[in-house]
Amino acid sequence: MNVEDAVASRHSTRGFLEREVPPALIRKIIAAATRAPSGGNLQPWHLHILGGEPLQNFKALMQERLDDKTLREEPEYHVYPPALVPPYTERRFAVGEALYARLGIPRDDKPARRRWFSRNFAFFGAPLALFCTVDRLMGPPQWSDLGMILQTIMLLLRAEGLDSCAQECWALYPRTIAQFFNLPPERMVFCGMSIGYADPAQPANQLLTSRAPLDEVAQFIGI
Ligand SMILES: Cc1cc2nc3c(=O)[nH]c(=O)nc-3n(C[C@H](O)[C@H](O)[C@H](O)COP(=O)(O)O)c2cc1C
Repeated sequence: MNVEDAVASRHSTRGFLEREVPPALIRKIIAAATRAPSGGNLQPWHLHILGGEPLQNFKALMQERLDDKTLREEPEYHVYPPALVPPYTERRFAVGEALYARLGIPRDDKPARRRWFSRNFAFFGAPLALFCTVDRLMGPPQWSDLGMILQTIMLLLRAEGLDSCAQECWALYPRTIAQFFNLPPERMVFCGMSIGYADPAQPANQLLTSRAPLDEVAQFIGI
């Protein structure tokens, strides 16, 4: 698969087959992805990949957290700016509506929307999960480096016929993740990722998200 095809065929995948991902394959992909660039070659990412029984254990732990509202945690960072403004508000709204339309969940059915959202915390049935953590002292430039390696991983996954969904929702359960992985206090969770083979029967996987017109996001001068 060439790079263009990998970029074009990567979509957030929210339903996976039970098919196992060979351990050697995921190791190869993660190793190759560490060629991603980073400012000053700091490589500020820390990656935690979970499969098999440990993943089942983690999911069971998460289910306990979800079942008990008193176990909700203080998010470590705002996934979106609290005062988000247009055009970002519209884009966020549009993708949410498009997804729920695919799933046939109406706007006012909040319980159904919540139930769907909670599938995030079971990694949408994926056989592999990944977490990306970062030292708290790192700032916006290093956080952008995290995006470099995460997209590199997602594209390399495509090259092997695998799919993924990046998941910032994990920012909602930083203590559970820190305890499970025994993270040092100076480390924080950025995001998770579901990894596996897409389930073609899952309606959410048919969603093709829109993008802003090129002129809205790019300026070409002298070209
Ligand atoms: C860093 C990051 C975090 C994300 N977090 C979530 C998430 O928690 N749950 C989810 O369902 N999708 C999540 N997404 C997927 C986005 O909604 C998706 O990338 C966007 O709508 C564009 O769609 P596409 O990935 O299919 O092109 C995340 C994407 C990124 C890049």
